[in-house]
Amino acid sequence: MADAEVLLRADGVVKTYGERVVTTAVRGVDLTFSRGEFCALTGPSGCGKTTLLNILGLLDRPTEGRVWIEGRDTTPLDDDERTRLRAETLGFIFQSHHLLMAFTALENVMIPLLSRHGRRAPWMREKAEGLLEQMGLADRIPYRATDLSGGEQQRVAVARALAMDPALVLADEPTGNLDTESGSQVFQALREIRRERGTAFLIVTHDQGIAAGCDRVVHMVDGRIAADTRPTDGRPGSRG
Ligand SMILES: Nc1ncnc2c1ncn2[C@@H]1O[C@H](COP(=O)(O)OP(=O)(O)OP(=O)(O)O)[C@@H](O)[C@H]1O
Ligand SMILES: [Mg+2]
Repeated sequence: MADAEVLLRADGVVKTYGERVVTTAVRGVDLTFSRGEFCALTGPSGCGKTTLLNILGLLDRPTEGRVWIEGRDTTPLDDDERTRLRAETLGFIFQSHHLLMAFTALENVMIPLLSRHGRRAPWMREKAEGLLEQMGLADRIPYRATDLSGGEQQRVAVARALAMDPALVLADEPTGNLDTESGSQVFQALREIRRERGTAFLIVTHDQGIAAGCDRVVHMVDGRIAADTRPTDGRPGSRG
């Protein structure tokens, strides 16, 4: 695989929590993600999925090991540099959407752009509207978040995660709070974004249907990668 295709690489990542009582949440993970991959991260509760996702997303630092993003070792970066790299490269979707409920769908999607660029410009509104339309929310653009259904709120959160054109979106149980129908709509929206924009996704999920709809499934057990497969053709995924 050409290096330019490698988006993210984890090398011997270990994470322990606590000092007197030590919990080892991640026990040595090597992983490579390429541009445009659409990957599920599965495994039993407590196996370390969220911990690993937060480390890959530069929200947390590993106790041991390194994370490389677009060929750059993130280990020596200070917090400001990590924040900048995160904003330029990564998007996040969480189980609960964390929208600002008093603001409209449009405003919620514009917020990352406003905070990045300092002041409002017409293109920001156009961009946010375009993303909301792509998420099937054209008629909900002016609605306040509080007046949207759970599935609609989560689709606004997806649009917000895409506002900065991330190369990779990290999603932690994005459909975990939704009923089957809304969950499936959100998942289809992610697939469409992948198809249209080439955005890579790493999606933590307990839903076997969603995992089966991904191109690659990384399965964790007890802090380690137990399997890394491509369900469509059964080939092992790229490791190390
Ligand atoms: N801040 C923390 N302090 C101490 N231990 C933690 C902390 N965060 C997670 N852990 C522990 O690390 C292990 C992995 O937790 P993690 O949240 O990564 O699991 P998970 O796979 O995301 O689980 P779930 O599917 O329930 O969300 C668990 O044993 C958990 O109790
Ligand atoms: Mg979790």
